[in-house]
Amino acid sequence: MKNGKHLTLGIETSCDETAVSVVADGREILSNIISSQISIHTEFGGVVPEIASRRHLENINDVIEAALREADTTLDEIDLVGVTYGPGLVGALLIGVAAAKAISYAADIPLVGVNHMHGHIAANYLEHHELEPPFMALVVSGGHTNIVNVPDYNRCEKLGGTRDDAAGEAFDKVARVIGLGYPGGPKVDKAAKLGNRNAIDFKRVYLGQGNFDFSFSGLKTQALNYLNTEKQAGREINVNDVAASFQEAIVEVLVDKAVDAALKYKQKRIVMAGGVASNSRLRELIEERAGAHGIEVLRPSPILCTDNGAMIASAAYYAYKAGERSGYDLDAVPALEF
Ligand code: KG4
Ligand code: ZN
Repeated sequence: MKNGKHLTLGIETSCDETAVSVVADGREILSNIISSQISIHTEFGGVVPEIASRRHLENINDVIEAALREADTTLDEIDLVGVTYGPGLVGALLIGVAAAKAISYAADIPLVGVNHMHGHIAANYLEHHELEPPFMALVVSGGHTNIVNVPDYNRCEKLGGTRDDAAGEAFDKVARVIGLGYPGGPKVDKAAKLGNRNAIDFKRVYLGQGNFDFSFSGLKTQALNYLNTEKQAGREINVNDVAASFQEAIVEVLVDKAVDAALKYKQKRIVMAGGVASNSRLRELIEERAGAHGIEVLRPSPILCTDNGAMIASAAYYAYKAGERSGYDLDAVPALEF
């Protein structure tokens, strides 16, 4: 406790960010340290799991210390340790889980393992202090694409997910194909602003009315086919047009399904989460189409959309308040379901 506030230390190492944060009362960020490995993985065009876990191991203690220092606190004042235990890369997750268990044991602080996806949703509690469930969530990250009904803090009902590539993965793959590089999402977003979104007719895959699943794997093939055809015909490729048209095909399906789900479950709010939630066109179109039905749209600022320790701390806090505790047998679960 510090100044009468409950302090949670949140640890996140599921992919390529070593991230640690101190959050007060589940809502107020006292520190949010993110040590990104993106520049290292860029060389390889994507995340290399072995390099990721080695880097987490090298960084984790410094990042924890920096988070405590910036929050002007010590472990004596920390009331709870929250850590991502899945889904993610097993070697990467294990570093965070081991660090969290060691702190919990050594300093005698309760431990709560957090589902990374619940963390992404909880990022909204940090941004919008008045936000409370119920709401519909659209969780779009590099590894996951889910529509989730959230009736209260500790219940997440997954209505649908991707059958193949996640939205962020599709962005990254197509960015590579058109030569924009890694990480693809932000680069496609930027290029798309200069392009025509109606230039190329990429297919919108809906998988049937009332179905909340997604399929994005065909888009990469379509992009490849388009590029080959144009090349063979000797025509110059307009990368901005490809980016804008491809982005529109993904974003339109995401928006339509999220709005349909909100209407079906009579939710008056859609909460966005995950790295792709910072996509500018997604934000624009969802506000337009949800707004037409009187549905409010919320999302965290970009720094809280991508992986961070604060969202894990917030999710841990609400799980802890509901009575959840993890033991020292907490293990990494790479394929953890929602
Ligand atoms: O949530 P996140 O940081 O990590 C995972 O848990 O996966 O999401 C990363 C993903 C990457 O695929 C990245 O390309 C995508 O989010 N992304 C974006 C944008 N910013 C990040 N995709 C589209 N537009 C963006 N502006
Ligand atoms: Zn994530």
